[in-house]
Amino acid sequence: MDQQADTVASRYGVRMSRSLKWFAYTAAAATSTGTLLFCYGNTLGDFKPIMIEAHELTGDAVVVTLGVYLWYHVGRTWRLRRVRPVSWWTGLAGGLCWVVSIVTGVIAQIFGMGDAVLLWWAHALASLMAIVVVCFHAACGFRAGVVQMRGAV
Ligand code: HEM
Ligand code: HEM
Repeated sequence: MDQQADTVASRYGVRMSRSLKWFAYTAAAATSTGTLLFCYGNTLGDFKPIMIEAHELTGDAVVVTLGVYLWYHVGRTWRLRRVRPVSWWTGLAGGLCWVVSIVTGVIAQIFGMGDAVLLWWAHALASLMAIVVVCFHAACGFRAGVVQMRGAV
């Protein structure tokens, strides 16, 4: 019985760590392509359409990888609000920033960013906040849950 429980736990851990890795790869790619577009969109104007395409594709990939990761992650951590308040609230804040980044990104994909100043700022700021808050959240979570994570990842 114990062995069976161990197998279930380790399979769950493997799925979690795989989905976290894919989220990290795609988030890094969306961040790099977004930053590239921001820095060189005008100076390298000829490449702008390619930069936009690359940013849109990597952005859409984040929607999938984040969805899969949160499915496992929130299922495990939602009940920990009182036990790990800092992790819980920073997780919620970071998750919401990602939602704003994704929603504004998808709106820009459908209708175009054009001269929509508010949409531009909402997207750029939410994306920046998403990265900063979630990096803090993950570091904090690994520190607080270091014993559990040795078994899970
Ligand atoms: C943007 C998406 C998120 C990412 C990338 C993320 C990532 C992580 C990582 C890497 C850890 C440490 C490893 C672990 O304990 O699993 C962690 C811990 C934690 N996360 Fe998140 N998280 C996210 C969103 C959330 C959300 C929405 C919540 C709930 C409101 C949340 C609640 C927690 C809690 C409570 C812990 C501590 C778990 C413990 O100490 O056992 N996270 N998170
Ligand atoms: C953390 C990740 C992200 C960062 C740092 C980021 C950053 C940026 C920045 C700075 C711009 C404006 C570029 C310019 O000045 O022309 C932009 C535009 C855009 N982003 Fe993101 N973004 C991220 C995630 C996403 C996601 C998840 C999506 C889609 C779901 C997305 C879709 C778009 C679209 C469609 C545009 C408009 C491109 C255009 O037509 O000019 N982004 N992003």
